[in-house]
Formats: sequence, C-alpha cells, structure tokens
Amino acid sequence: MSRSRATDVRTVKKPVGPGQPGKMAGLAVVVMAAGLGTRMRSKQTKVLHPVAGQPMVLYSVGLGLRVAGDRVAVVVGHQADLVRQVIDRATSGTSGGSPVAIVEQREQLGTGHAVLQSRPVFAVGKRGAPSRYLILNGDTPLLQEKTVRELLRVHEAARATVTILTAVLKDASGYGRVVRAHTAERHVARIVEDRDADQEERAIREINVGTYVVDGEFLFSALEKLDPSNAQGEYYLTDIIQLAEHSGRRVAAVVLDNPDEGLGVNTRRQLALAEQVVRQQIRDRWLDAGVTMIDPASTWIDAAVTIGRDTVLYPNVTLEGATVIGEDCVLRSYTRLTDCMVGNHVEILDHCVFADSHLEDGAHLGPFTHLRPGVVVRKKAKVGNFVEMKKTDLGEGSKANHLSYLGDAKIGKGVNIGAGTITCNYDGLQKFQTVIEDGVFLGSDTQLIAPVTVGARAIVAAGTTVTEDVPADALVIGRVPQVNRAGWAARRRALQTGANRDTVTGTRDTKPTRLTKKRPLASQGSHVKKRSRG
Ligand code: UD1
Ligand code: CA
Repeated sequence: MSRSRATDVRTVKKPVGPGQPGKMAGLAVVVMAAGLGTRMRSKQTKVLHPVAGQPMVLYSVGLGLRVAGDRVAVVVGHQADLVRQVIDRATSGTSGGSPVAIVEQREQLGTGHAVLQSRPVFAVGKRGAPSRYLILNGDTPLLQEKTVRELLRVHEAARATVTILTAVLKDASGYGRVVRAHTAERHVARIVEDRDADQEERAIREINVGTYVVDGEFLFSALEKLDPSNAQGEYYLTDIIQLAEHSGRRVAAVVLDNPDEGLGVNTRRQLALAEQVVRQQIRDRWLDAGVTMIDPASTWIDAAVTIGRDTVLYPNVTLEGATVIGEDCVLRSYTRLTDCMVGNHVEILDHCVFADSHLEDGAHLGPFTHLRPGVVVRKKAKVGNFVEMKKTDLGEGSKANHLSYLGDAKIGKGVNIGAGTITCNYDGLQKFQTVIEDGVFLGSDTQLIAPVTVGARAIVAAGTTVTEDVPADALVIGRVPQVNRAGWAARRRALQTGANRDTVTGTRDTKPTRLTKKRPLASQGSHVKKRSRG
C-alpha cells in the first residue's frame, strides 16, 4: 500500500461564478506576515511595501476574508504595530472592529513557528476548532481567489491532509523546491528550501508557492514536531509535508497554469515585477468593465480605485488610493488623483494634481489645477489653470478660471472668482474662513483677508483688498485712487536726451521727482478713475 496519494490538478480557467460558495464553513485562514524581509534591504518591513498602492499584506488578508469570512488571523512581528494599524484600517467596518485577529510572533523563528502562534485564536469559541486551515504567505500579492478556491476543492476531492500550490518556473532559485517521489503517481514527498537543497534538488523547477490547505486535526500537532536543524535554524512550515507523508496521509498539489501568480516578493526586483503584473491585471479589469484607455501601458490605476463606464483615460493618467470615478468622465494626460470622489460627466484637463477631494457631476477642471485635501467642486462648477484650492467648497455653477488660491472658503452658487483672487486665510498662527455667498462677482486680483464674508450678489471691484464683511448686493472697492499725470512721461524722456542723461538713467527713483516740483500735484491733470472693472 502506498503511504500517500497525490493528486495533481491544473487550475481551472473558469472564473468563479455566482454559484460558487462565498465563505467556506469550518475554514480558517492564517496569513504569515512577521518576517522583516532582509532581501528587500529596506527600513520598512516587507509586507507593508505597496503593490499598486496597496500594502502587500492586504492582498493575502483580503483573499482570506473573501473565502473564510471572519476567521482570519495574521501573524505579525517586525513593525508589528504598523502592520496591525494598516490591517485594522483596511478591514474595520463602519461599526468599528476588524474581523481580523492579529497575533504576535515575538521572535521570527520560521514559518512553522509563525503559524503555531495562531493556535490560541481558533482554539476557543462556540463554533469549535476549524476543520481546515488555509495558510498564506504575506508576500504573494498575485495569488487569485479562484486559484485558492480550486486548491480548497482539490483538498476535499482528494481527501488530502495537506494540499499545496506549486508552479513550474524557468528560474526557481530562491524558492522551496517540490520533491516528488519516484512512483508512477509522482506524488509530493517533501519540500526542500533553496538553502538546504543539494545540486540535484536545485535543478528542480517546480516550486512551493507558499499557499497551503491543511486539516485542522493535523496542523498543530505537526507543527509541534518541527525540528529546526536546517541551514537557517528555523521551524519550516514546509516540513509538515514530509510529516504528513511519513504518517501515511495524503498530500495533494495544484500546479499553477500561470506561474506568474505564484510570485513571492523577496527582493525589490520581484516587487517591481509584481507591480507590473498587478497593474496589468487592474487595467484589464477596467477595460473589460467598459473604461477606455488611450494608452493602457502608461495608465496607472491603484488596486482600490473604481471607474465608471465610458470614462476615457488619456495617456499618463494616475489614479491612486481609494479614488472613485463616475461614468462618462474624461481625464486628460499627466493628471494624478489620490483618494478623490468624482461624479459623472466630469472633465479634467491635463496636468492636474488632486488629493482627497470631491468633484460633483459635470464639473470641469484644469489644465494645471491643484486641489489639496478637503475640496468640494459642486455640479457644473469650473476651475481653471493655476488655481490652487484647499478645504474649499465651490458652489454649483461657480467659476474660478484663472490663477487663484482659495483656502478655507465656502463659496456659494453662481459665483465668479476673478483671475488672481487670493484668500488670505493664514496670519502666521491660525487659519480663518472666507465665506462668499451666492451670486457674488469678485473682480480680478481680489484679496480676501479672512475671516470675512461677502454677502450674496455683491460685486467686489478688481484689485480690492476685502478686510471687512461686505453686505449683500453692495459694491466694494478698496484700492489707491488712480493718478494720471499728463505729459509726465514725455518730459522725462526729454530730460533723458538732455544734458543730465546720467541722472535720469542712473537713479530713476529720486531724480525724476524734480519734474513734479515745478507744479503741485493737483494741477498736473491727475484723474481718479471712477469706473471699476471686474
Ligand atoms: C517560503 C517557503 C518556500 C516557498 C516560498 C514562496 C518556508 C520555510 N519556505 O520561503 O518553500 O518557496 O516561501 O514564496 O516556508 N514569516 C513569518 N515569520 C517567520 C518567517 C517568515 O511570519 O518567522 C512570514 C514572512 O513575513 C513572509 C512569509 O512568512 O510573509 C514567508 O517568509 P519568507 O522568509 O519570505 O520565506 P521564503 O524564504 O520566501
Ligand atoms: Ca518569500
């Protein structure tokens, strides 16, 4: 009688359909995320390095939550508090608490030791101990849910004790190699780590991906039997395969169709590769969902971004963080949005940088607009070139078309913000609010010294510095009266061509004042301009 039987199944290409089970009963997930990741040569722990804008560990955690619901434990160690925060923030619902249990591995004694730390999490509770565990490395961001479901299916179908995911690579260096028995079935006998492998084993191109399904009844008793006498002096999780095999249990394996999916990120090169693959997957997903990309290769979309149908992305658009874009929008080149909410029919021209802002339907922005956090651009409002905004609500249909800074402002509907308008919101110590009510017309080069309110429908003359509240429907003009001196320029020129050329060209500020000494100012034809222009 053969002591173990192996089952090899190629992964199915069929996508997970609606009939597919959601959360699997009796299943628990353990994600190993305690290692430093020495080969990254980084101050930051490996699992926090982002792939497509999302910390690597969240790929494994997200997958775990999708297949096992709330029975997910993450083993943390290096920068434990930071990793915990990232996971809590990403997985906590509106009601607060995260469904993910965090356990600490104080010393990183190996992957087997890491999984052992999760035992107390699942030992107690009404539902009893899990019947199976899905164990995931925290550094395999390309792994797909359908593959994991296939692994679980094969585990059941083969009635295996341990089922592993493998991949056949051109270059297997660095990975644990899958050693198969010399039987007809070529079942998996053990995994040998790269550093423990002899020459013959190193030549094996089938690798252990680091994704396992293990029977609950077997897992922890096997982990207790691990022996760290290997090249790294660690408790290897992978040694449980040999333990299962030796005790006559079945070990099954699923070989990945697409070996890319099995990429484990240990180095910056592998991180860069993972980034490329994930980016491509994300672009394909949105192309399939009805988004147009003029040049997909230069379009950067983070993992958590969503985009509506018939939206068009021009080359070199970057969508970051939790950005949500509606339908029928157009985003022109070299524009970057981070954590923004964009409605439908919004047009954003080239070279814009927006963070943490909300653009309502039909808004029109750019080129060269800068939105810092806390901006709301209401329906059909327009923001043009070289306008910077921060914590500002620009009302429906309002326009700020050119060269302005609008900070800490509440701007009503149908307001015209003239070119060069500045909210002077900061006195060096504190920030103050500017309120501009509906229908106000601000002329060009207006300065608003906050806190200040401009009442509805008021008109602010160009060049005005508004220091006090303006009543509704008023005209406000605050600027130095204009002085026109007839013939002054001509007389100055005459002086220049005359005897005293040096005086005029040398010190403009002092000498020409002699021109005005002959006659008093009033008689030189001065004229205060009456009309104010917007
Ligand atoms: C591991 C596997 C190897 C496999 C490869 C796939 C073992 C012994 N080896 O090797 O067979 O081919 O993954 O990518 O499992 N971790 C802890 N605590 C520890 C050590 C590691 O939580 O004490 C975590 C790491 O943070 C990481 C994961 O476990 O997320 C894997 O550790 P890593 O050091 O990357 O293992 P590999 O050498 O890549
Ligand atoms: Ca690894």
